[in-house]
Amino acid sequence: MNYENLLVEIDDDIAVITINRPKALNALNTAVLEELEHAFSDLLKRPQLACVILTGSGEKAFVAGADIAVMQAMTAVEAESFARLGHRVFNAIEAFPRPVIAAVNGFALGGGCELAMACDVRIAAVNARFGQPEVNLGVIPGFGGTLRLSRLVGKGRAKELIFTGDMVDAEEACRIGLANKVVSADQLLEEAGQMAVKIAGKGPLAVTLAKQAVNNGLEMDLDRAGYFEASLFGLCFSSAEQKEGMLAFLEKRPARFRGE
Ligand code: CAA
Repeated sequence: MNYENLLVEIDDDIAVITINRPKALNALNTAVLEELEHAFSDLLKRPQLACVILTGSGEKAFVAGADIAVMQAMTAVEAESFARLGHRVFNAIEAFPRPVIAAVNGFALGGGCELAMACDVRIAAVNARFGQPEVNLGVIPGFGGTLRLSRLVGKGRAKELIFTGDMVDAEEACRIGLANKVVSADQLLEEAGQMAVKIAGKGPLAVTLAKQAVNNGLEMDLDRAGYFEASLFGLCFSSAEQKEGMLAFLEKRPARFRGE
């Protein structure tokens, strides 16, 4: 499938999606959001897919936010519907059954920070900058920033970033839990690829269920979350991969989850 604003490369069991509007620092307009939604939904048709890497094209930005030129003339009703589209697409990425790694290659601001936060893991290039600068424009984060930032870094730090509009660099993002690790810019895709390959070697159903347990468990009280986790743990035992994983351990050999 060819897209106007995305590059999608699929190599065996790993997909790399690159948002490709470098002249606008990969800003998100309706077309980019709809293409992202389509690309992820298309990847659902590939049962062998193990992991997705999401990045931005060019050396400057992952995504510098929602497209300000487009938003500038929006009515309240149009802006609400634009935000609802952003939520729908980012929720689909968050719920995507395989891990999604954001390879953050520069500015991740506003909608760009929100997109990175909808991914499971964020690997930051040393030149990455994260922030929710919406208050500079007289608006608030609209694609889930108030929700996901406070869940990732805690309410106090999230409010400071959202109220001041300040950017944090990659090291600081890592320190506060917004990024998982910092790597040199030329190693970014390599590092993301290595993590994706590592994940691809694990039991695919186990990885999917672990993602569901973390994502859903965080939104439940501990009793319900524990009940949910135990149910998913039980479900693992209906799979061939649990048989293979445990047998391989006892036979002192690597597990073969993908029938290679
Ligand atoms: N929307 C539209 N165009 C954007 C953009 C955005 N979010 N960010 C950058 N661009 C465009 C610029 O207008 C510029 O275009 P021209 O060359 O045609 O003038 C081009 O990208 C390069 O940008 P700059 O010249 O500004 O580059 P810089 O290096 O001087 O600055 C920057 C980089 C600090 C990221 C700066 O571009 C900037 O502050 N961008 C806006 C960041 C922002 O406010 N993001 C939040 C948007 S609101 C939002 O996302 C709401 C939400 O939650 C849904």
